[in-house]
Amino acid sequence: MNFQSQKILFQIRLDRKIAVLFFVFLSVFSLQAQEITSPDKNLSLKFELKEGGIPSYQLSYKQKPVIKPSSLGLEIQNGTSFMDGFSITNTAQSSVDENWNPVLGEEKTIRNHYNELVITLAQAKNNNRYIRIRFRLFNDGLGFRYEFPKQNELSYFVIKEERSEFNLNGNHKIFWIPGDYDTNEYAYTTSKISEIPSLMKKATIEINAQQPIAALSVQTPSMMKSDDGLYINIHEAGLINYPAMYLEVDSVNNKMISHLAPDVLGAKGYMQTDAQTPWRTIVVSDKATDILASKLILNLNEPTSYKDVSWIKPVKYIGIWWEYFVAGRSTWAFGKENNVKITDDFTKLTPNRKHGATTERAKEYIDFAAKNGFDAILIEGWNIGWEDWIGNWKEEVFDFVTAYPDFDVKAVHAYAASKGVKIIMHHETSGSATNYERRLDRAFQFMNDNGYDAVKTGYVGKIIPRGEHHDGQWMVNHYINVAKRAADYKIMINSHEAVRPTGLNRTFPNWIAQESARGTEFESMGGLAPDHTTILPFTRLMGGPMDYTPGIFQTDLSYYGTGSTQRVNTTLVKQLAYYVTMYSPLQMAADIPGNYERFPDAFQFIKDVAVDWDNSYILEAEPGDYITIARKAKGRNEWFIGGITDENARTSNISFDYLPEGKNFIATIYADAKDANWNQNPQKYTVTKVIVNAKTKLKQYLAPGGGFAISIKEGTASELKGLKKL
Ligand code: NOJ
Ligand code: CA
Repeated sequence: MNFQSQKILFQIRLDRKIAVLFFVFLSVFSLQAQEITSPDKNLSLKFELKEGGIPSYQLSYKQKPVIKPSSLGLEIQNGTSFMDGFSITNTAQSSVDENWNPVLGEEKTIRNHYNELVITLAQAKNNNRYIRIRFRLFNDGLGFRYEFPKQNELSYFVIKEERSEFNLNGNHKIFWIPGDYDTNEYAYTTSKISEIPSLMKKATIEINAQQPIAALSVQTPSMMKSDDGLYINIHEAGLINYPAMYLEVDSVNNKMISHLAPDVLGAKGYMQTDAQTPWRTIVVSDKATDILASKLILNLNEPTSYKDVSWIKPVKYIGIWWEYFVAGRSTWAFGKENNVKITDDFTKLTPNRKHGATTERAKEYIDFAAKNGFDAILIEGWNIGWEDWIGNWKEEVFDFVTAYPDFDVKAVHAYAASKGVKIIMHHETSGSATNYERRLDRAFQFMNDNGYDAVKTGYVGKIIPRGEHHDGQWMVNHYINVAKRAADYKIMINSHEAVRPTGLNRTFPNWIAQESARGTEFESMGGLAPDHTTILPFTRLMGGPMDYTPGIFQTDLSYYGTGSTQRVNTTLVKQLAYYVTMYSPLQMAADIPGNYERFPDAFQFIKDVAVDWDNSYILEAEPGDYITIARKAKGRNEWFIGGITDENARTSNISFDYLPEGKNFIATIYADAKDANWNQNPQKYTVTKVIVNAKTKLKQYLAPGGGFAISIKEGTASELKGLKKL
């Protein structure tokens, strides 16, 4: 062997030694703790096994702790829990950076950019049965979930409780509603975490079908702010075949722990491998605007598998609706009776003479929709069963295909079609999911036969199957099955009272909006606090679009002379701003047509505003106080800005630097008058046309409980001439 080959051999041996050493070092290190950072390095996630083999994670943002060491695990019924006794058998890291295009959305293109860490954990005490925990760390936060791969030692199991901890770094300010298995329709309470116990009773006002959780808990999305200015939002993504998650509150230690909606037997999730939980999400930033801009929840959802999505369209609509809420104006029901069966002959009922959904009324609404460029009208109360629809926990309230005697489906559709307007179907199930499932195909076929392409579903009341909850695994699967089956019929769904959304509109893009929060209807039932809509985008809307039903111009409801003293707690102009601040590709102009006719200059904004967008710019935001958002219309050189404030007046500083450089545009500014006020002078506003460009800066006044709205479009030289430059 010459010197050269000896040297090579030595080198190989040395390399091997180093490789082995490196491997040993790596595995010892990796079995102890694993750390990854977000692509921009601001967020850092550490995973480790604590003594006893308990999985634990912690999260920091710019060196500040967001989640202090917190345990992860699940308790299993009749079996060994996935709580401890784990050892790490494998770790894997990867990165993804890709763009995708939602069918409808706030952005035309969404960037999905994250670093991933997957830990495989085996339980020696249980024949090395194993699970995985998958972490995805984005620039805007963390997602993690538990995975249960197919294996000899694990096939079926029932979850007793998920025990994911969120050990917060302080007694944060929190915007919260009580944990409830059946409704999210609560008013928000703003407090410190430590104050939740003493405020819980007051926060839990009575709502139809409520089942407040016995343990001290709050709903997600849960929005928090730390004393040192970190904004933290906890929710979930991709809620499929699993119950919704609430957060049990340990108000002494500032700790939240997952709590799942049970079924009647107390079980929380029936699982079969391969299986996984939904993602648990923590969106974090030191800027409130980043929270609203986050696309983390959508990114964690699966892309849609629908081949053709051309039939999924944004919808701006009016409806035979608000008049049902304006005390005593009109009714869903046709008959005076209140003990009917769907097998009864409804032509024999005694008409109550206030039925809203008549053929004549429908035609008036169709005329108004056609004249003002609306895509569709929602008609509620068209079908038999409304005489005793609520409160009786009755299985068969509606059949979804039989119209009342004074509503001619064919004639209404022929008239609507002749005017280019669609009718939105209404399927109130009164909580009877079983009845709805049995009749679903007939109901959707009826829609196809009569030209309906969208349906508003509703789940008012206690759920049937009796003992199930709105948020339990069974119902979670029900809503998804309805959306999937609707897709077979090319039908879009807008669900009310369903479990709050978790970004599934990416996977099932025909599920275009949901209510699942306290919406405009409550303005007729006690009113919404002036800060309510400055909180909703940070909470409920983090999960997906909301059918908030804005656009109420006649805010003082005593106007109708029906004895109501209720009032909508906003200025008229704030209602305009909602079309921009409350994102939804399905937007209603909820007021009665006559009220729009009284304020034609303000109504112009609702007629003009887009509902699907190329880009969104969150300009200003503070939960509970104010929000200002600008958006560019999908495929059009038009921009719309909406700004809202709480009960305090404010001045918004608006920039226009997202407009193309070097070009002048016409801006129409809808503003609260100087003496406007949500409770004393809500209908006083100004409409001004001016010239703006990318360099313009505007200081805009918002009245107490008020807002502003701006539409921006290109103009010809003659249109621009004579307008003042801002
Ligand atoms: C409650 C819904 O939120 C509301 O919009 C609807 O009109 C009623 N239920 C009746 O279905
Ligand atoms: Ca406030």
